[in-house]
Parts: sequence; C-alpha cells; structure tokens
Amino acid sequence: MQQKREQWSSKIGFIMAAAGSAIGLGNLWKFPYIVGTNGGAVFLIIYIIFLILLGIPILLAEMAIGRSAGKNAVDSCKTINPKFGFVGGIGILGAFLVLSGYGVVGGWVIKYIFKSFSYDNFTSDFFNEYISKPFEPVIWTFIFMALNVLIVTGGVSKGIERVSTVLLPLLLIFLFGLMIYSVTLPGAVDGIKYFLVPDFSGINSFSDISKIAINAMGQVFFSLSLGMGTLITYGSYLPKKSDLVSNTIMVVTLDTAIAIISGFTIIPAVFSFGLEVTGGPGLIFQTLPAVFMNIKGGSFISAIFFTLVLFAAITSAISLLEVIVSWFSDKTGLSRTISSVIAGGAAFLIGIAASLSFGTLSGIKILGMNIFDFLNHAADKVVMPIGGFLMCILVGYIWGIKPASDEISNGGSLRFRLKPLFAAAMKFIAPVLIIIIFISSLF
Ligand code: PFF
Repeated sequence: MQQKREQWSSKIGFIMAAAGSAIGLGNLWKFPYIVGTNGGAVFLIIYIIFLILLGIPILLAEMAIGRSAGKNAVDSCKTINPKFGFVGGIGILGAFLVLSGYGVVGGWVIKYIFKSFSYDNFTSDFFNEYISKPFEPVIWTFIFMALNVLIVTGGVSKGIERVSTVLLPLLLIFLFGLMIYSVTLPGAVDGIKYFLVPDFSGINSFSDISKIAINAMGQVFFSLSLGMGTLITYGSYLPKKSDLVSNTIMVVTLDTAIAIISGFTIIPAVFSFGLEVTGGPGLIFQTLPAVFMNIKGGSFISAIFFTLVLFAAITSAISLLEVIVSWFSDKTGLSRTISSVIAGGAAFLIGIAASLSFGTLSGIKILGMNIFDFLNHAADKVVMPIGGFLMCILVGYIWGIKPASDEISNGGSLRFRLKPLFAAAMKFIAPVLIIIIFISSLF
C-alpha cells in the first residue's frame, strides 16, 4: 500500500520553504559578484527582463507539473507523458551537481563565521590559502552536509518547512538592517550608482552582450532553483486548492528582493572602502572581510553576515537534497532517513573532489576548469538551461497550455491573468531565448 504523501502544513509554510530554496548562496554570494563582474546596472536590467520572460513562467510550470502529478520529479514528468521521465532525471542529476559544489561553499561560510572573530591576522591571501588546504575545508563541508541530512530526515513539514519558517524571516530582518548600515557608510553612494545607473561604455561587441546574457540567464535559473525539479518536488506537496500564481509571484518577489538587498549591502560597502567589486567569487570572502576589519564592531557584524549566509545556504541545500531523496526513496522503497544519508553522503564525496580541486587536485582540469568550476559551470550554464528548455517543451507542447492552465487556475476557479505571457513563454519565448543564448555562449 502506498503511504499518504506528505503536505506542507500551510500556505505560508510552503512559501517560506520555496523562497528558502530560491534564496541562497545565489543571492548573497553569487549575485553581488556577478553584478560586479558584468557591468553593474546593465546586468541588472537584463536580469529583470529574463526574470519575467523565463523565471516566472518556468517556475509556474514546474510547480504545476508537481502539483498536478503529486509525485517526485521523475514520476511527475512521467505522469505528464510516460516518455518524459528523463526531464525529471536531468533535474536530479543537476541537483546532485549543485549540491556537491554548494556543500563546499557552505563549508567556507561556516569557517568564516568563526574567522570573523580573528580578523587581526587576515590578509587578502587568507581565502586562497584556506580553500586550498586538504583537510579543514572538507571537514566543514561534511558538517554542512550533515546539517542538511538531519533536516531533510525530519520530513517535509516537520523538517524543511519548520526550519525555513524560522531561518528565512531572520535572514530578511537582519539583512535589511545590514543594508541600511552599508548604504549610510561614507562614499557608499558610488556603489549605489554602480548598481543602479547603467554604464554602457564597457559593452563594445556582440561577445560582451552575449557574456552578460548567458550570465544573467544562468543566474535567473540558479537563483530561482529552476530546471532541477525542485519546484516540481515542492509543488507535489501542495494541496489542490492552493493558488499557484500567487505562490510564484511571492517566491520570485522575495528572491529578487533579497538579491537586490544583498547587492545594496555588499557593493556600497566595498566602494566605501575603495576596494574592487570585480573580485569575482572571492568578493564576500576576500574583499568584504577587509571592510569588516575596518569598521567598529566589524567582527560582530561579520559573524552575523556569515550566519545569515549560512541560513540562506541551508534552506537551499535542503531543497536540492529533497529532490534527490524524494525520488530515491520512492524508487528504492528505502526510508527517508536512509535515503537522506545516502544522497547527502554521495554529494559529500563529490564535494571532497570539488574542495580539493583548489589545492591537491588543482592539476585536474575538465574543459580547462578545475573540478569545482566545472561543476558550477555545468550546473547553471548547461544542465539548468537544458532542464528549463525541456520543461517548456513538456508543458507547452506535450502536456499543452490548456491542461496546464486548468491546473494553474484550479479548474477555472481562479483567474489566471498571466495566461497569455505563460503560453507565449512556454511555447516560443523561453525555448528560443534559451537556445539562442546557449548557442551564442559556445562561441
Ligand atoms: N536557488 C539557490 C540559490 O540561489 O542559492 C540555489 C539552488 C537551489 C539552485 C535549489 C537549484 C536548486 F534546485
């Protein structure tokens, strides 16, 4: 006999969990540095356009697939069409790749919570020296992964929902406070300008635009957790009467708000101290500590900041783990606990290789990238867009706009004003955009 499927305990619980999945390292770590290395406000504009044309419709589509079928990512896609289970399978593969790399950065974040209190011996080399060590980062990655396994073992409403409902509001409140602090630092205004006023002078060729476009698209997918079956899995725990459109708008709004607040927290602070925002992935680990070192109570603020980053990372990592666990336990009949340990353990093993790729294994290059960069690149520039593309085909052409819209409008009982955008995005705009950007990025 099949057990009754778990459900979220309330609408707000679902929103906290889904927004918790969306809001993560992508907002607090990646977004500010991608804005910094992709021309500031120009990137922001393209990002918002893609959010509307790709992000909202695909998020809605995934949630509709999940709620309609009420199964894990693979079986939900199979329910729509028996030949399309592989779309969910690609998502699970992607979730696995992202989770492995996520665990490594999650480990760095935990280290920095403690490091905050000993910035006196901090130099800009600390970060590179630290991540290339063979043991310590691996241990923190293990601890990060173990925390996630523990939460997912608790189940959908008692584990994932409960943790997200506590951590996400804390993140919102404290990050907002930090932003106010940052934008009022002397000289912060230059950072605000960089973030908000487009400067087209850096864009001189087609390849400049194409680079910004692929980064913006990758960031939309990554930040909203798309193309990985996350929203299918979370959607499958939704009650039939829930309003998918308003859920989608809430999640996208919260995710974008946090990305922008995070930009407003980090970029002005970096400008205020005359540091470079183009520092790339080291921005919060290398550049930001130099800010913390120079302000009163900096250690304390730093510890709060990295704790918030940890909260955000956990509520995302559990969603990646849940995608895998939900499928794995259905497939094998193993318990949630055992499935979580196996999935988390496997992601940790790949995470070890990713962590060592900054030191011991730095000689191993895949397509010119170390293992960590390769995982990162494969996930948000390849697997997620392909997953997103296939979701559009599945919904736009296989399932059909009519049945999908019936699901979204709860059989016509809710108004679905976004239907024209949804239909156009699923059938044409999103698949075409994804292909164009994907191909142009290959050159
Ligand atoms: N959205 C998360 C972030 O912005 O950090 C990352 C992520 C979570 C990506 C879940 C994909 C996913 F399925």
